[in-house]
Amino acid sequence: MLHNDQLDKWDRENLFHPSTHLAQHARGESPNRIVTGGSGVYIEDRDGNRLLDAFAGLYCVNVGYGRTEIADAIAKQAHELAYYHAYVGHGTEASITLAKMILDRAPDSMSKVYFGLGGSDANETNIKLIWYYNNILGRPEKKKIISRWRGYHGSGLATGSLTGLELFHKKFDLPVDRIIHTEAPYYFRRPDLGMSEQAFVAHCVSELEALIDREGADTIAAFIGEPVLGTGGIVPPPAGYWAAIQDVLDKHDILLVADEVVTGFGRLGTAFGSDHYGMRPDIITIAKGLTSAYAPLSGSIIGDKVWAVLEKGTDENGPIGHGWTYSAHPIGAAAGIANLELIDKLGLIDNAGSVGAYLNAQMQDAIGNHANVGDVRGEGMLCAVEFVKHRDSRTFFDASEKVGPRMAAALLAEGVIARAMPQGDILGFAPPLCLTREEADIVVGKTRKAVAEVLGD
Ligand SMILES: Cc1ncc(COP(=O)(O)O)c(C=O)c1O
Repeated sequence: MLHNDQLDKWDRENLFHPSTHLAQHARGESPNRIVTGGSGVYIEDRDGNRLLDAFAGLYCVNVGYGRTEIADAIAKQAHELAYYHAYVGHGTEASITLAKMILDRAPDSMSKVYFGLGGSDANETNIKLIWYYNNILGRPEKKKIISRWRGYHGSGLATGSLTGLELFHKKFDLPVDRIIHTEAPYYFRRPDLGMSEQAFVAHCVSELEALIDREGADTIAAFIGEPVLGTGGIVPPPAGYWAAIQDVLDKHDILLVADEVVTGFGRLGTAFGSDHYGMRPDIITIAKGLTSAYAPLSGSIIGDKVWAVLEKGTDENGPIGHGWTYSAHPIGAAAGIANLELIDKLGLIDNAGSVGAYLNAQMQDAIGNHANVGDVRGEGMLCAVEFVKHRDSRTFFDASEKVGPRMAAALLAEGVIARAMPQGDILGFAPPLCLTREEADIVVGKTRKAVAEVLGD
């Protein structure tokens, strides 16, 4: 329920929206949506629309909207103790309990959790800790971080640099020094259409090896990657990719950061994407699914190997000079505990695996043979459809045709929210993990209609 009929005007006059065409918005040329409520996989807006949110907000509302268990836990914590800091050994029952719950679910070699507020600041923490780690080990030159083109790791100074998408660099003077990029594991966009998946993995490995050779292994500290590329196009890696990359990193003593902001806590049908692909990360980034976005909270899960050096560092240099006022905020932690309990109670990780596989299979069946559908791909509760001008030659549409955004708009008109991914004509789906088969059928049916409307039958 809204009490103010001036919201549209106030919005355009006062609010600076992220990832928005600012001038068009201020002039009132682009639509805005004022969201008033949500339940399950649906949101409602103030105009009375009920929309199936097949992107779970920004792939974060994993348990779905309107979960009173989490709202009650937040309220209880706010009444009892809204805040205390975590500096110099202070804690709260909520933050200590949540750290244990995370480590109980994380891969075995993980040691401690540092809490932040969002994925970007968690990756900033990771970069600082990696630099600190190599200084303590007496390797002051070993500082560069390798990311992948089309990776998404945030939009801060260093994390926006890690992000390998043009929009996030252009006119911002990014990437900053020490952050370098290598080939994305994007088989559909392989350089030569005749390449097998295996040959493409070998190509990614040789690109990485060449970059390490050029820069010098003694200057490279870490490699960061999402188990499945997210914002760069929702792209599961080709078979054998992570094992092959891991071999290169091990050979050159390069740390691996698994950015599990999207994949952590069940989206792939497994607790972590690292387990899913047999990755052996030294640090894991978590956010979104940790609280299902009921409160802002992120984390850096630090593995044993890095942790031992951090301890040594503080023995030699005194307390670690890193921390936010809101690190381990008890309200976020209370939301996280209730959220992880709900994921277990409702069996949402299994549901993500089974209904996600159903969604992907039905999508392939419904539109996979359309003349302008080049690729339908996904893993767990992630799915993407990539559009092309000509299938056989894999010719892409010109960006000015805005096929992706038009497709998302047509689908929205049908009552389903999907995301036009920022680089390429790619429609992305990442519904709440509680999606049912009936709801998956709605998503697929409406997508088929939208495709017919924008590109014909
Ligand atoms: C893989 C990944 N890492 C980091 C981030 C940044 O998180 P935040 O937007 O909370 O700063 C995102 C956000 O989408 C993400 O998808």
